[in-house]
Amino acid sequence: MADPGMDRFTALAMTGSLLGGPLTMPAMRIGPYLIDPPVVLAPMAGVTDKPFRMLCKRLGAGLCVSEMTSADPRLRQTRKSRHRLDHAGEPDPVSVQIAGADPVQLAEAARCNVGHGARIIDINMGCPAKKVCAAWAGSALMRDEGLVGRILTAVVRAVDVPVTLKIRTGWAAGQRNAPIIAGIAEASGIAALAIHGRSREQMYTGEAEYDTIAEIKSRLSIPVMANGDIDSPEKAAQVLARTGCDALMIGRAAQGRPWLFREISHYLATGERLPPPTLVEVRDILLGHLRALYEFYGEPAGVRIARKHLGWYAKDHPDYSEQHRTDFRAVINRAETAEAQFDLTRAQFDALIEQVDRRAEHPGEAGTGQWPNADTVRKLSAAA
Ligand SMILES: Cc1cc2nc3c(=O)[nH]c(=O)nc-3n(C[C@H](O)[C@H](O)[C@H](O)COP(=O)(O)O)c2cc1C
Repeated sequence: MADPGMDRFTALAMTGSLLGGPLTMPAMRIGPYLIDPPVVLAPMAGVTDKPFRMLCKRLGAGLCVSEMTSADPRLRQTRKSRHRLDHAGEPDPVSVQIAGADPVQLAEAARCNVGHGARIIDINMGCPAKKVCAAWAGSALMRDEGLVGRILTAVVRAVDVPVTLKIRTGWAAGQRNAPIIAGIAEASGIAALAIHGRSREQMYTGEAEYDTIAEIKSRLSIPVMANGDIDSPEKAAQVLARTGCDALMIGRAAQGRPWLFREISHYLATGERLPPPTLVEVRDILLGHLRALYEFYGEPAGVRIARKHLGWYAKDHPDYSEQHRTDFRAVINRAETAEAQFDLTRAQFDALIEQVDRRAEHPGEAGTGQWPNADTVRKLSAAA
């Protein structure tokens, strides 16, 4: 029995049920924008491109942050940067993350991105990658509090859209200065702060620790997003209860599971789990995602980028076995053209859907438990 004085998210986290009926998590305000639901897709280089952001938005994310874009003006004309500046058709508010170490360059990059449609600018002080930190950007910036202040002030002054900041807990175990950086952020006019509960030294190892996030949240008046290891509706409720944050930010768990956003908001609002998407829905979401990738990147880049997403989609569903995953990857990775990749994916899913339906109709019959092999798939495609 839950203590009646207990915070309702704590009750949900501890008992799996809400006290006093449904509860709606209040929207988070970032400048003029209401982020509703306050469940946010984390910036991920090589993952959160426009097709994936639009998909997550459609499936319930309140905000999707772009991959980081370098503030170095020499890199602005590359093919990669041009894709990252393209926001045509993307729902507002478009949030673009910038990375760099020079206040003047970062201010100019912020202006450039606003000119290309960004409505929120996010500054990267969380990336642990060696290449990024070697240039004193990403999480390395947290080691120089004076520079952090100069960067934040310069960027906030440069644009008339809200500026957000993403940090880690600090550089290393003995240098967890996130509370100081958070104070500098608030004083510099940062509109919201995202905190990944790990130090740079931890990279992605160990478990995210939420106590530092909770401590920072309790001291700030700007909204705070909790980030790190949120991979289920139940974990989302636990992190909310533990940190008292205004929003949750989700990275890796959304790879191949863009419907996680709606699952989390539904659980927080009702205390009940949505059923997982059916295989038919997964197939349709995935095929729509493939089409969007081909359209955005063309061939062969679209096919190459789609491969990693296909692998992620195959990673967990109650109807897949380990054998399904291996077979799926083997068949899909062989496709060299968009047409072949698309047709094989569709044929694989159609065959699995048929198998699962057949098993539901004849529960006594032993299924093969395998995806159809490449030959069967080709025959199925030809017959379709
Ligand atoms: C493939 C990948 C790329 C990432 N790229 C960025 C990035 O460009 N900018 C950034 O601030 N964080 C980046 N991150 C960190 C994530 O935003 C997030 O903080 C981290 O993955 C922890 O959240 P999670 O446990 O929900 O994945 C990246 C993470 C991954 C796995």
